[in-house]
Amino acid sequence: MTHHDNHPFADCILNDDCIEALKPVPDETVDLVVTDPPYLVNYKDRSGRSIIGDDNGDWLKPAFSEIIRVLKNHAFCVSFSGWNEVDKFMTAWKDVGFKPVGHLVWHKHYASNSRYLNYRHEQAFLLAKGNPPIPVMILDDIHPWTYSGNELHPNQKSVEIIKPLIRAFSRQDELVLDPFAGSGTTALAARNTGRKYLAIEKDKNYYDTAIRRLR
Ligand SMILES: C[S@@+](CC[C@H](N)C(=O)[O-])C[C@H]1O[C@@H](n2cnc3c(N)ncnc32)[C@H](O)[C@@H]1O
Repeated sequence: MTHHDNHPFADCILNDDCIEALKPVPDETVDLVVTDPPYLVNYKDRSGRSIIGDDNGDWLKPAFSEIIRVLKNHAFCVSFSGWNEVDKFMTAWKDVGFKPVGHLVWHKHYASNSRYLNYRHEQAFLLAKGNPPIPVMILDDIHPWTYSGNELHPNQKSVEIIKPLIRAFSRQDELVLDPFAGSGTTALAARNTGRKYLAIEKDKNYYDTAIRRLR
């Protein structure tokens, strides 16, 4: 038994707005955040599926202030973001007290879009609360992309790209939070690496998908 078994939200998936859902989570009880929030690009896929919160960034600062409150001191938050509205993300992160300590890039073997450039990368920022210890295993900041197939969610990430992040920035049995969980990829990656998870998803359809996936 570790103390994480006693966390009131260990291995939970919640169907709510994360700003509300995080309120009852006690301060400084999460070991790692790995999340993929809306990129603020009004995304629609070919079948017209859109993403809650993708049309404005009003949620950014309130959500990340809850996220940093529940995160332990001297710990990490890995957040994906698009490049388009990166100023809004960076402002919110810095305003709430996160310090950017790295930038991760995944190189796609296909272009997800093409206009002024062939858009072939995804990115995430490594954010620190306090001064986390140097990880035992140091990750490169560039990686090959693995395509998820997007069958469960239009922005679905592959479990294979999330697992190395969880292994590098948390330990066995620790609690990993994803407040923008989509189809539950982070939760599954956490379970498959022997961690606990807390996943929050506002859209009932994706919440149901995450529940089914983790069952
Ligand atoms: C980019 S997607 C995450 C996809 C996920 N990484 C996956 O692999 O399935 C972002 C998700 O955040 C959800 N979302 C948006 N605003 C939210 C909020 N305030 N609270 C909780 N979830 C929210 C959206 O419904 C969407 O499913």
